[in-house]
Amino acid sequence: FKYLPPLNLGHKYFELYPKESEPLWTNPCIDKRHKLIWNLNETLTCSKFPKILILGPQKTGTTALNLFLSSHPQFEPNLSTKEHFEETQFFSSEYHKGIDWYLSLFKFNRNDSTINFEKSANYFSDSKAPKRIKALLPDAKLIIIYIDPGKRAYSWYNHMRAHNDRIAIKYTFYEVLNLEVKSEDLEMTKQLRLRCLDPGEYAKYLRKWLSYFKKSQILLLDGELLKTNPNSYDSKKKFFCLFVHGRRKCLGSGKGRKYEPIDFKSIEYLNNYFNDSNFEFFKLIKKYSMDIPIWLNF
Ligand code: A3P
Repeated sequence: FKYLPPLNLGHKYFELYPKESEPLWTNPCIDKRHKLIWNLNETLTCSKFPKILILGPQKTGTTALNLFLSSHPQFEPNLSTKEHFEETQFFSSEYHKGIDWYLSLFKFNRNDSTINFEKSANYFSDSKAPKRIKALLPDAKLIIIYIDPGKRAYSWYNHMRAHNDRIAIKYTFYEVLNLEVKSEDLEMTKQLRLRCLDPGEYAKYLRKWLSYFKKSQILLLDGELLKTNPNSYDSKKKFFCLFVHGRRKCLGSGKGRKYEPIDFKSIEYLNNYFNDSNFEFFKLIKKYSMDIPIWLNF
């Protein structure tokens, strides 16, 4: 195949190296030659790359943090997308769209001190996101928010109920956790249960992020503090809201939902389920001298 035409040669190459068929975008701004190929210009485009990423996980208060940061004149969030509203999800599901697409979601700022940032709450537990972010944005600051993983699980269940998920509507939280469902619903219930529990295994995922990024690049934020940190408390919403130009700006009804308090048996189940993983998480953040969240006590 020494003399194959270009397209066939391409096919042959990926046949021999199938692992390389998935692209890994590196930062064209770091290498002069790449910058020339991409026709990028320092002031025009390189400054658009976000310097801060809010990684999630989902249901920990990522939308609130996104709004709070956006209200600061120095911070500029990405433009919203058709697919995922305020999230780009570039490093998870939209990666194949390429760097041009990603950059088109950020404003070009003439003001040097403006910092572009993005939040996509599914990055935290995405298997490919750490490697991809490291390749494109090796110096980015990463923000991870944690709440009690049991509360996170219940919040996700209620999120799915609010979106009329058939399984979440049909079965109680406890039934989902214990897979006490009809056999024809078992597979879908397993999926829902996984999305309730898996992102809450914080130590497993934090360890992975720490294998790609320096500790100084990662900010752990206690999601309980995000809820209770004094700003302007809205006694009706029971969350903090912002005052922008004299007007109160709370998050919409999809955030800070009203739902039944979690039942005792589920609390017990979750305490058991997360006990080892929380202890691992506790040891890990202690080892790295990171702040221990108030809800995590051993
Ligand atoms: P609940 O709706 O289950 O209470 P995310 O934006 O990552 O999906 O997280 C949603 C969660 O953010 C909400 O879950 C709520 O508990 C929490 N939250 C934190 N601060 C908030 C605020 N100021 N307004 C509304 N929800 C807030």
